[in-house]
Amino acid sequence: MMDQTQNADHPTIARTTTPDLEVPFDACLMGGIPDPCMIVIVGASGDLTVRKLLPALYNMFLRNAVPVPFVIVGCSRTKLTEDSFRDVAMKTLSEKADQDRSKLKPFLSCLRYRPVQYDDLPSFVDLAAYLEELDKRCLTRGNRIFYLAIPPSLYKTTAQMLGRAGLATEGKDGNGWSRIVVEKPFGRDLDTAMDLDRSLNEHFREHQIFRIDHYLAKETVQNILLFRFANSLFEPIWNRRYVDYIQIIAAETLGVEHRAGYYEQAGVLRDMFQNHMMQLLSLTAMDPPSVFEADRVRDEKVRVFRSLRPFPVEDLKSYLTLGQYGPGKIDGKAVPGYREEPGVNPQSLTPTFAAMKIFLDNWRWQGVPFYLTSGKRLAKKLTEIMIQFKAVPHSMFRQVLGEHISANRLVLGVYPDEKISLTFQTKNPGAKVCLRSVIMDFDYRQNYTGPTLEAYEKVLLDCMLGDRMLFWRQDGVELCWSFLTPILDECETCSDRVKMLFTYESGTCGPQLNNASRQTVYNEK
Ligand code: BG6
Repeated sequence: MMDQTQNADHPTIARTTTPDLEVPFDACLMGGIPDPCMIVIVGASGDLTVRKLLPALYNMFLRNAVPVPFVIVGCSRTKLTEDSFRDVAMKTLSEKADQDRSKLKPFLSCLRYRPVQYDDLPSFVDLAAYLEELDKRCLTRGNRIFYLAIPPSLYKTTAQMLGRAGLATEGKDGNGWSRIVVEKPFGRDLDTAMDLDRSLNEHFREHQIFRIDHYLAKETVQNILLFRFANSLFEPIWNRRYVDYIQIIAAETLGVEHRAGYYEQAGVLRDMFQNHMMQLLSLTAMDPPSVFEADRVRDEKVRVFRSLRPFPVEDLKSYLTLGQYGPGKIDGKAVPGYREEPGVNPQSLTPTFAAMKIFLDNWRWQGVPFYLTSGKRLAKKLTEIMIQFKAVPHSMFRQVLGEHISANRLVLGVYPDEKISLTFQTKNPGAKVCLRSVIMDFDYRQNYTGPTLEAYEKVLLDCMLGDRMLFWRQDGVELCWSFLTPILDECETCSDRVKMLFTYESGTCGPQLNNASRQTVYNEK
């Protein structure tokens, strides 16, 4: 262990070393070999397809992580030809400077295109006939994934059209499966989430529905359960007896970008809290299931959501701070305020920052505050979970050191540092008794040079494998909306709405937090 500084409040870094990995790299990359299948991207001319899906599919193709045979069918309202769709894909994939282009040609040959009108049954009947014929030619055994890369307002209609065209029907022998992938937001409150689910369920069963949360597919987020439940050291102290509070931060430097149309309706609570923040909370707080199996894990998460203490909406200000970014500087460059962004109402009251204090009413966490903070245009991009332990119950060093001994802190870094770090006290070298805080630091990629799957690659692979571990289940979605909907209702209708929204300068740590929130925690970074 190496260390350099002495100040108890500024811990030094102590490096850990990893023993040889016990499992060969390749064995970890894939969870199995997916069945031959075709992935039908509905909304193939849109932003998500170009930015995320095609690059993810190509990277999987490069690593032989797609099944053989494999076909990608693009569908959208745009009347593209197969060749022009391939040109779009080629342009996207060639633009990345560091992209390996060695398999571009065979990848492009897996691409097909078919125009559809989302509210027009005959065009889906046509699609069904086309897919059936393609199945026969390409030997994809009738296995299909329908990925809805379209605006959420089109989910219901499209799911119904797919169903009415017979595309949700599954074969009986394990082949001929049909899956539908839905991106967040799953509704904009409890009622709309239930309504969307009813529409999906008209033709698709729960086992066919894959509700994506890309945070769940991040390596470091997946690691939370393995770290907690594959070590005997931490679990005994992972509770109200030893933990003082928990802070979950997802801070961004990005602004709303070109997504004003969506974000104006969503705001930070729907965009980040209803999904990513709730998943980070559940992984941090849940009990271990008896087996690591999708539904058993999701049962435990649901138990966490069930124990969310109803938010004291009558005293919002003590538990919630909302903010909206004003003009400022990010990385030395001037950036506009939210209200000056293209497409944003100049009087907009949409929050881009929220800090929330919540409690879980259960034996493990009773009385332990969870501070959830997320915002756009903040000083730095940072995603992490911090477990702040309680101070020692009694200090035998009182005479020499006084009362204050910094308590242990464990940080699970998600971004940019993919790490686990533990702060603890040691003796400062020298004749006098002095303490110093040191950090034992594990870098997640340390000693690992093998390939990894990015979040979208992992999500697509799991969908092909039919593994629902990293996807939302509807009961969880509804419980989280049940928690958030009263808060949203109160925030959006209360007479103090204008006063509740603090403007903060872009590139700072957000608004001054009220006394119930942990101002210091993000500022310390
Ligand atoms: C998305 C939100 O789900 O997550 C975006 O809609 C946000 O507003 C993004 O920027 C953050 O994801 P990541 O992986 O960059 O932390």
